[in-house]
Amino acid sequence: MQQDRANTEQLSVELAPLYASGQMNALQQRLEVASGELGGRMMVLDLSGKVQADSFSELNGSRVELPEVLSILVSGKTIDYGVHKTTTGEQTNSVLRFLRPYDQNSEWVGYATSALTTSGITIGVLIFASPIQEMMERLFTLQDQMVFYFLIAAAAALIIALVFSRIITRPIASLTRSIQRMGRGDLSVRVPVRGSGELRKLSETFNTMSEKLEMLDKSRNQFVSNASHELKTPLATMKILLESIIYQPEMDEGLRTEFLTDVNEEINRLNLIISDLLALVSMDSKTLRLNRTTFNFSQLVSDSVERLKPMATKRKQEIKVQLGDRCEMYADFAKLTQVVYNIMDNALKYTPEGGTVRVRLIRSGRDAILTVSDTGPGIPKEDQALIFDRFYRVDKARSRDTGGTGLGLSIVHQMVLMHGGNVSVDSEEGQGSTFTVELPIHQA
Ligand SMILES: Nc1ncnc2c1ncn2[C@@H]1O[C@H](COP(=O)(O)OP(=O)(O)OP(=O)(O)O)[C@@H](O)[C@H]1O
Ligand SMILES: [Mg+2]
Repeated sequence: MQQDRANTEQLSVELAPLYASGQMNALQQRLEVASGELGGRMMVLDLSGKVQADSFSELNGSRVELPEVLSILVSGKTIDYGVHKTTTGEQTNSVLRFLRPYDQNSEWVGYATSALTTSGITIGVLIFASPIQEMMERLFTLQDQMVFYFLIAAAAALIIALVFSRIITRPIASLTRSIQRMGRGDLSVRVPVRGSGELRKLSETFNTMSEKLEMLDKSRNQFVSNASHELKTPLATMKILLESIIYQPEMDEGLRTEFLTDVNEEINRLNLIISDLLALVSMDSKTLRLNRTTFNFSQLVSDSVERLKPMATKRKQEIKVQLGDRCEMYADFAKLTQVVYNIMDNALKYTPEGGTVRVRLIRSGRDAILTVSDTGPGIPKEDQALIFDRFYRVDKARSRDTGGTGLGLSIVHQMVLMHGGNVSVDSEEGQGSTFTVELPIHQA
């Protein structure tokens, strides 16, 4: 294009004298030669824009109104260049499609114009029209290719972004689904623990949480079913006893009284179970507060021993008590009474007739330590961790005879924990058991 411009300018200098002096044949010949050499069409226009000479000898007399012509004739430029697309539709402006009249399609044409001057005055315009279709086509192909590659690159970027975002969000999405499942009541859900960092931690935390929830749910169900079972047993016994009385009107007076006494005992048992359950539930829901007062713990222990003496006497058992000095404590009197009573009650209950129960209380620093040892059957090692669970009984059949529900030690455990203390068991099968309760005295 630069070359077209330079050639046109050079030729305009050469042609100006011919045009100025009206040598139109010479001008025409020169145009045709140049047109052949440069591969385009050459035209000379007068000041009104009419074609005066045309290398193709077709358009003489017609008007050319290209902007590149006007810029010279009107705006006073000396050279100009422009590119136009000639279309078949533009019949009136037919000069724009003169280059290849047979071509039905539109064409790109480059127009180089240069003023013809004599002594600095413009007397006409030289136009060089060269086909640049091929170049434009290459340009467009290049453009198309660029658009194509751009689209491919954009699509690839989009796919990569999508893949990455899926990789990043997949664990979160799976976690969300698991939480939703859990919200619908399925506590068995676990998420796979993958990767590293925060997401891994989150998955692990979620799994720990759901495990705990599941365990809690199971133990709650267990508790409810055990409690119902425990309540049903005395009810069933009472029903049998009462039905016997109802359906045997001529029953012996003595037997009837015995049956009614049994019913009364079952009612007492039910009462005990229910108050134990209520105590446990209220400790669970944290509504039960410690009602602390200052009292002598040694006194509390010896009072409990006194209460249990009749039972020991009946079972021909001996209670040996070894209490240190006064042991002032700031704690919940009623709850600690129950703790001591439950442990001693077990010791007497599970020790066979003629056995011995030793009760010892010492002060050790800021703790009061109570130990209750018996000469009973002992507790198997595998059961020792479980006896503080609700409703747990080592020998179900044996405990049934002695009337146990399996709640006593879990109440002890809860109450000691509430006081910030600790309860443990040490036992060998066949050699008796020792229960140890450590309690902070909270007194100077
Ligand atoms: N001193 C002991 N010697 C042998 N076994 C014991 C002793 N204390 C507790 N156990 C065992 O531990 C189980 C749990 O005791 P816990 O006091 O919780 O329940 P329980 O005595 O059966 O019933 P409850 O105390 O509710 O009336 C008992 O059933 C018994 O098998
Ligand atoms: Mg008990």
